[in-house]
Amino acid sequence: MGEDTLKPEEAGAVNAAAAALRRGALVGMPTETVYGLAGDAGNPEAVARIFAAKGRPRFNPLISHVASLDLATVEGQLDERAIALAERFWPGPLTLVVPVADSARTSELARAGLRSIGLRVPGHRLALALLRAFRGPVSAPSANPSGMLSPTRAEDVERDLGEQVELVLDGGECEKGIESSIVAVMPGEPPRLLRPGAISRARLEEEVGELAAAGSAAVTAPGQLASHYAPRAAVRLNATRVGVGEVLLGFGPAAEGAARNLSPSGDTVEAAANLYRMLRELDATTATTIAVSPVPETGLGEAINDRLRRAAAPREVRQGK
Ligand code: TXA
Ligand code: MG
Repeated sequence: MGEDTLKPEEAGAVNAAAAALRRGALVGMPTETVYGLAGDAGNPEAVARIFAAKGRPRFNPLISHVASLDLATVEGQLDERAIALAERFWPGPLTLVVPVADSARTSELARAGLRSIGLRVPGHRLALALLRAFRGPVSAPSANPSGMLSPTRAEDVERDLGEQVELVLDGGECEKGIESSIVAVMPGEPPRLLRPGAISRARLEEEVGELAAAGSAAVTAPGQLASHYAPRAAVRLNATRVGVGEVLLGFGPAAEGAARNLSPSGDTVEAAANLYRMLRELDATTATTIAVSPVPETGLGEAINDRLRRAAAPREVRQGK
């Protein structure tokens, strides 16, 4: 569905959101992966507001979201390999990290001073409508306080960051439910998978051949910190039974006694779409620990296990459980 098919109330909300971005205010932006905390990438004050709202370390760069491949080439230098990936997967859950272009409108602060830039054309009709109405690049990290679970519904954003945003565009529940796959395509280097995400490694590799590991040259990204995407409850992985004080997040047909099941049929796409919502739901129970059934590494399992390992990693003690 294109921009022209927006309902009148959606068009009104999109215009209000674009106006807010122009004023330097922040808005909650639905995408097909997770909700983003959106601000004008070209306005350092708006970008600073994003970092402050999330409590995010300043050195971590933000993804610039644009409405088209053409607009992406204003921001970054896409070589043949990057263009092939963009043409195959945009609009969609792929972020390309490429050298920044001289013509870039994205501020240095949004790029955390790097000579590279993360770019994405999201595949959600309200996000595309907003980006077209606003025209410029939009910085949008996931709309969660840094380190916590990413939001997959408008009400998640309202609850966690409602005070910090002027409005949240309600685009319903995110279809993919897990963040974009990030691929760095830098000159003289093989394409690197910086973050597994909503497009499986296998599908990406069909397009560009084997992906190299993130490598030491990769920036320290928050999603790459050991503890991230964490609920308040503790998380125990590869659980085959439920212990005292635990609640089970199952996967597949054999997960008996599961309070929630990521995918009873064992489908990793379905499991990715359910991951953050179910973790939130179980985090709202009295359980002290969320035990999670083993999830295979195949398909989107690589991205799911990446997030689960970080959710389970040792972290600083938080308030509550
Ligand atoms: O699906 C998504 O990608 C969501 C939606 C809202 O688009 N956004 C998202 O943003 O997950 P965020 O900020 O939570 O994660 C972006 C990741 C971070 O790990 C950041 O460090 C990395 O992208 N990144 C951005 N620019 C980069 C660059 N120039 N080089 C390396 N990593 C970069
Ligand atoms: Mg995030």
